[in-house]
Amino acid sequence: MCGIIGILGSAPAAPRLVQALKRLEYRGYDSAGVATLEGGRIERRRAPGKLANLELELAGAPLSGVSGIGHTRWATHGAPTTANAHPHATDKVAIVHNGIIENFRSLREGLAKAGHEFASETDSEVIAHLITDGLDNGLTPEQAAIAAVRRLEGAFGIACLFAGEEDVLIGARKGSPLAVGIGDGEMFLGSDAIAVSPFTTRVMFLEEGDIAILSRARAKILDANGQVVTRQIHVFSGAAAAVEKGNHRHFMQKEIYEQPETSGRTITRYVNAFDERVEMPDLDGVDLAADNAIVIGCGTAHYAGRVAEYWLEQVAGIAVETDIASEFRYRKPAFGRKSFAVFVSQSGETADTLAALRYCKDQGVKTLAVVNVPESTIWREADARLPTLAGPEIGVASTKAFTAQLSALAALAIATGRARGAISSQEEGRLVRALMETPRMIAQALDSEPKIEAIAHELSQARDVLYLGRGVHYPLALEGALKLKEISYIHAEGYAAGELKHGPIALIDEGTPVVVLAPHDSLFEKTLSNMQEVAARGAKLILITDSAGAAAASDIAKHLILAPACDPFIAPLVYSVPIQLLAYLTAVHKGTDVDQPRNLAKSVTVE
Ligand code: M6R
Repeated sequence: MCGIIGILGSAPAAPRLVQALKRLEYRGYDSAGVATLEGGRIERRRAPGKLANLELELAGAPLSGVSGIGHTRWATHGAPTTANAHPHATDKVAIVHNGIIENFRSLREGLAKAGHEFASETDSEVIAHLITDGLDNGLTPEQAAIAAVRRLEGAFGIACLFAGEEDVLIGARKGSPLAVGIGDGEMFLGSDAIAVSPFTTRVMFLEEGDIAILSRARAKILDANGQVVTRQIHVFSGAAAAVEKGNHRHFMQKEIYEQPETSGRTITRYVNAFDERVEMPDLDGVDLAADNAIVIGCGTAHYAGRVAEYWLEQVAGIAVETDIASEFRYRKPAFGRKSFAVFVSQSGETADTLAALRYCKDQGVKTLAVVNVPESTIWREADARLPTLAGPEIGVASTKAFTAQLSALAALAIATGRARGAISSQEEGRLVRALMETPRMIAQALDSEPKIEAIAHELSQARDVLYLGRGVHYPLALEGALKLKEISYIHAEGYAAGELKHGPIALIDEGTPVVVLAPHDSLFEKTLSNMQEVAARGAKLILITDSAGAAAASDIAKHLILAPACDPFIAPLVYSVPIQLLAYLTAVHKGTDVDQPRNLAKSVTVE
């Protein structure tokens, strides 16, 4: 899940490569590097750690060439050192790679026997040597790149720059995304459209198995069978790719505050407010009047799916199965005769989710993607799609994409209820009216920041934190715990409130913080009993509830975070805000790298 960029330009490439890498840093930030052609020779600058280190390298030893490639790394094979940083190069070719070359060991052994010397521990370096082998044997750059790619097993997006070839850049895609940006007398390669957006608005997305042979004047695309093909050119507006922090301290903070707008945008895409009906786009053969639904995702996207499980069952009366994508296909799941499968993903590139989608397609199950990045692989491979309109999410911890996923899934639950005849038009109208209130309710929930700020200060001292929820708030407890651990590095676990007494209650000690998500709904009294159980054992209760819940539990809760009273249907959307703010403000107190927490990457394109 590294980020790659390539430029055949008319201005010095290095600053532009760095500019693009800044937009790709969400894909990994263990090291970064660039290579340019300087008088036809390949010159590299690489540095471990964040891009700022590479910028220092370049300031000390500038590059002026106009053709180049760049990379920001999420380490898989080999530590995050300079030697393992991309680009990897010989004197004839430099390459950047995103993905994993599964047969790198056997390729490396063969190349080493033939006299190739390796300078890194990476799987990627074999690509440079394979291409060099071809060039040594008289192949052209195009022929050598094609021959090398044919020998690679695994997943890759690659960009290759050739010594002495100022007007050639070659890209290849299998399993990892790659886009071609078409400029004015310039040509670009990038892991996504955002990478090339500073230079052009015209972008083609390569398909699986494609190889792109670029010059400044032309993009020749060969498909997996070696046939010359054309790929559609998409035109993006500058705004679609805008990724600035504005006045916010972190992207995560900005993205939390964007949620009234992003959830509203997503809801209005699926809701006809005038008729109080949900309107789905053409679902291309996905029949919502099915007997079973399967909802798959990873991490936060999986938790959005778990919330949807409650909605689909309660609103539409459909049997639902949810799973994490990394396990789903190993179970060899069986499907009912009338099933559809929903794949939830912000990036649309998560390797496990994509593999699960392909599994379902192989089994003849119709697939529906709830995806944020248009034209991503999951978006394109699914039978039908429900876009989430969160806009680019840069913070590694997912926030606005989560609530946009919930927004689309809530609309899907209503549409499924109607298709199955499970709800009347009056009930549909009531649910739509509730959904339309979400942006306002989220905006009100954001008002709790000053209160949460004080609690976060205390929470930042904790070693372990438990999150509890009941019903639809159970997956939200899981999401709250995930958010806290990934950005504050504090150990946290989410549990169903009723499950605690079956074991995890042994973890409660004097002062253990326990965050409880409990609006004053039909399940409140039961959760109140669970709160009493943990309070009696010394837990420090942080209760997120509405004013009625606060009145009922103020004597046992050490801290109260007030959320607006809302329809239970939209409560998961509204209660997402306090758990995000609590994690964010705790991480700020701890001084961690909020937007780029250690060991993580925004888009996980390895299994
Ligand atoms: O791009 P996706 O939604 O498919 O990503 C899935 C997970 O990797 C992602 O939600 C991850 O758990 C986030 N870091 C959570 O904040």
